Amino acid sequence: MPALEGAGDESPSPAEKTLFKKYEVGRLLGYGAFAKVYHAREVQTAQNVAIKAISKQRILKGGLTANVKREISIMRRLRHPNIVRLREVLANTKKIYFVLEFAKGGELFSKVAKSRFSEHLSRRYFQQLISVVGYCHSRGVYHRDLKPENLLLDENWNLKVTDFGLSALTDQIRHDGLLHTLCGTPAYVAPEILAKKGYDGAKVDIWSCGIILFVLNAGYLPFNDPNLMIMYRKIYTGEFRVPKWTSPDLKRLLSRLLDTNPQTRITVDEIINDSWFKIGYKEVEFHHDYLELKDDGDNLKVMNAFDILTFSSGYNLSGLFDDREE
Ligand code: ADE
Repeated sequence: MPALEGAGDESPSPAEKTLFKKYEVGRLLGYGAFAKVYHAREVQTAQNVAIKAISKQRILKGGLTANVKREISIMRRLRHPNIVRLREVLANTKKIYFVLEFAKGGELFSKVAKSRFSEHLSRRYFQQLISVVGYCHSRGVYHRDLKPENLLLDENWNLKVTDFGLSALTDQIRHDGLLHTLCGTPAYVAPEILAKKGYDGAKVDIWSCGIILFVLNAGYLPFNDPNLMIMYRKIYTGEFRVPKWTSPDLKRLLSRLLDTNPQTRITVDEIINDSWFKIGYKEVEFHHDYLELKDDGDNLKVMNAFDILTFSSGYNLSGLFDDREE
């Protein structure tokens, strides 16, 4: 079967190629440092999906095979209404394809760019974001690269966060030196990362959430300058001014989120108890499909449906980097 064009290739994918006879691949939705994302339709169900194509060569060159497998199993386990679901992973000789839930509403920030959000709407999206961040952190998963491109909307205007779980992979690829020039803006990066100190993934995500909340409310970045060195300095010193329409309660929360000291920065638990945050907040209820399995020793093993999929042969990742054409 023909390989999709992927990251690093010259031309975009011609419309309506089919991938594994299963997905009709359409337009390019976006691209990042090491991947391209296409719109596609599942032939059998006519369902929309997004397909993220990553070059195997880059992963192999960076010695990142184990990382990719680990990240895939993390992404499989994340089930939250505001996280883009990973539906399946496919591979051919050249590329790995992540088949993702399609977020029809596109990027949240293209909406903010048109006009800033009311405090009410900013709160709603921030609540959805914190729900995702709390859910992931409690499972030991840190995004570390929360930024506008990763915040999408579904058809009901609800937030859908993408790339949770692929973040460590992104980091690794950056650190091998190959792609660091493509990193983009540091506007969302926490000061302790700029300082090249060891950092705590949870604290770094909270900082990025603070920047996101600021942008939703203000319509512009808290720390910005065309000169990168000046931008870095602003992030480092953490001095920002809120626009005049910001309520005192929101201002107080922003200063707790954008605390340059990770040790004193607000935590997810504290955010959830904040008076500005709490207004109208409903915690997401999760439905776990737990199944009880008995092993040989008669010990009960509890697995959910996703663990079973992960371990079942249909989802076995051991062949992911074998050079077999479909
Ligand atoms: N762009 C990147 N990922 C996407 C997704 N899952 N849905 C829609 N657009 C996207």
